[in-house]
Amino acid sequence: MALSDADILFQQALVHHQAGRKAEAVAAYQQVLELAPGHAPARAMLGSIASREPAGSSDSPSTDDALLQDGRALVAQRKFAQAVEQFRKALAKSPGSVELALDLAEALLGEICQDDDLDFAEVEAHPESLAAANRLGKNLTRHRKLQAEAQSLCRGAIARQPDLVRAYITLGEALTLGEGNDTEAAEVFRKALELDPKNGMCRYRLSLLTGDPLDTMPAEAVQSIFDRGADSFEAELKRLQYTVPARLRTALGPPGPLAERVADLGCGTGWCGPLFREGAKRLVGVDLSGPMLAKARQRGVYDELQQADLHEFLLSEPAAFDLILAADVLIYVGDLARMFPAVQSALAPSGRFAFSTEKGIGDSYRFLPSGRFQHDEPYIRRLASECRLTVEQCRDIPIRLSQKGPIAGQLFVLRKG
Ligand SMILES: C[S@@+](CC[C@H](N)C(=O)[O-])C[C@H]1O[C@@H](n2cnc3c(N)ncnc32)[C@H](O)[C@@H]1O
Repeated sequence: MALSDADILFQQALVHHQAGRKAEAVAAYQQVLELAPGHAPARAMLGSIASREPAGSSDSPSTDDALLQDGRALVAQRKFAQAVEQFRKALAKSPGSVELALDLAEALLGEICQDDDLDFAEVEAHPESLAAANRLGKNLTRHRKLQAEAQSLCRGAIARQPDLVRAYITLGEALTLGEGNDTEAAEVFRKALELDPKNGMCRYRLSLLTGDPLDTMPAEAVQSIFDRGADSFEAELKRLQYTVPARLRTALGPPGPLAERVADLGCGTGWCGPLFREGAKRLVGVDLSGPMLAKARQRGVYDELQQADLHEFLLSEPAAFDLILAADVLIYVGDLARMFPAVQSALAPSGRFAFSTEKGIGDSYRFLPSGRFQHDEPYIRRLASECRLTVEQCRDIPIRLSQKGPIAGQLFVLRKG
């Protein structure tokens, strides 16, 4: 890389520095040194910042722990804008902390995504409102700045610790937001995968960007999506007219007791629970996401809630259930070659398995750019037959609305034996 690039970056660092944005300035000076390790002015400026820090403040041991912990608590409550403030304060005290820089970058991305949801929903709800459109426009401009800041923080972190997988993942996420730079994001995720070949989140993000096939949604990716989305899940799905739990209930029989032992796979916030409570002696919900399970627990209708992968759960419960449900869950499972035999083993004789799919038109399954899997009816029927599950019902249903209109789905009821 030519020195002139470093000089341009150095000018940007100076602008941050003069404006009092110390963390951004430090990150930019560090990037300059990455491009041009002999860049004396950048070295001098970093030295001058460090000399003004309290002794020992240049790395994580000196991080202002209270601010860091406060910031993390705010992130856990999805109060991203407040978390950003805390992390900025902490970083101003410890500008050399890579950990803080990444916490701040992640909180910035959280803030952008959260605002985006609100702004777009408002414009969708009031397409005629100029005020809503203006707010969206203003926020998009602000988001571009926040996004650039998040990227700069990640690059600074990578310059300091080139093998830090978290920094690449956050940078990749920052690069995919808004108008984004998918090519660079893919490179960044590839680099992260080189460092950590088993990282499911990277594999998932890379597949979304490149269309590389994926067999199943890695557990980390499921958790990341639903841990973050637990608070808004129900309101959002109601807005999108999601009705799968009610449709499953209706398909399985008239109101009244239905089954004594019921497993709700991927129970999420527990939408199905109340619909299948009557007459059940054991109603178990299983999910990978702790925050989704916490919402399900608040309903007070499940006898047990387990945080587990559904395959492992099923294999640990031979012949234990009269009814197994999976409402809008196979879209994350993808390849069902493990799931169907596991369902067969967990069902009691004559037990039923009721689930929904997003409907495809081939004879297999596929990972879509939406980040979900689609399944074709012949594929489901083939697996059912191989696992001695009889297809009692198969009907087309709408799953919910999307930006492109209703998502076409299917509802299946299979019986063991
Ligand atoms: C779209 S939500 C549906 C939730 C609920 N069934 C409903 O209808 O409201 C999908 C849920 O499946 C869970 N999930 C996805 N893959 C899973 C797996 N392999 N094991 C357990 N839970 C999983 C997710 O965490 C999420 O809560």
